[in-house]
Amino acid sequence: MNAPAKALNQGVAPVTYGVGDRPPRGDYASAASDYTCAQRWDQYTPEQHALYARLHQRQTAQLPGLACDEFIQAVQQLGPADRVPRFDDVNERLVPATRWQIVAVPGLIPEEAFFALLARRKFPVTEWLRKPEEFDYVVEPDVFHDLYGHVPLLFNPTFADYMQAYGEGGLKASRLDACELLARLYWYTVEFGLIDTPQGLRAYGAGILSSAGELRHSVRSPQPRRVAFDLQRLMRTRYKIDAFQSTYFVIDAFQQLFDATAPDFTPVYAEVRGKPQIEAGAVLPGEREFAAG
Ligand code: PHE
Ligand code: FE
Repeated sequence: MNAPAKALNQGVAPVTYGVGDRPPRGDYASAASDYTCAQRWDQYTPEQHALYARLHQRQTAQLPGLACDEFIQAVQQLGPADRVPRFDDVNERLVPATRWQIVAVPGLIPEEAFFALLARRKFPVTEWLRKPEEFDYVVEPDVFHDLYGHVPLLFNPTFADYMQAYGEGGLKASRLDACELLARLYWYTVEFGLIDTPQGLRAYGAGILSSAGELRHSVRSPQPRRVAFDLQRLMRTRYKIDAFQSTYFVIDAFQQLFDATAPDFTPVYAEVRGKPQIEAGAVLPGEREFAAG
């Protein structure tokens, strides 16, 4: 199969990295060729709305002192906290704010399809909600992770531009066979990023902000390493998908993230490939660490 065809939905669940041996959950048969689908909001049951509300409430209660202000302020833009938000309703506020919009998808989608959506300022949000027994931990991203974790920062103009640049960079990385290195950037920033603020360390990564336990762990626990954001250092660092992170990368501003990733990555990928990989949790000699916040 040639490259563009890989990004087109054929009605079956795609093979994606990081999901193990099961196919992703979700109804791929009813999605369009770019993997987007309708949200079918009327099909969420009262129990599902109540479960979403409990997730929202548990997370929001923990945000002060742990989440960055940009996130805390934008959470209310998601709408009423007592039900699964309607994506169209969120878009009424998001589009005017940063020209981003959210689109529904059946679940995990292939990376090229994902990059193509981000490059057009469309953020794919999984339609399905976890089961009650997955209240504390769900293996694949669901509507709570995607919406609550990711969408608030899309209201921030600088972060919004970074996400679009990431999508464009992903399409380029596909051509350069560098998706594995670029995925580390997504992992350690968009999913598990920390930011140093005058008030102390705060989380901005969606994987942290949608996790019941990792939010406190990432900011306050003495266990993990917290090192300053450095593009090459980060791209050399492996990550774990089945445990709290043992290394976090700390930015000092969203502008830093945007500026540090703006240059052409072609030579960066080449240099990183020539250097040894770094294990998750390792600290390099002389490296400064941030203390727990
Ligand atoms: N500057 C990167 C490139 O040339 C693109 C990119 C921007 C990637 C922002 C990630 C984030 O490939
Ligand atoms: Fe995510």
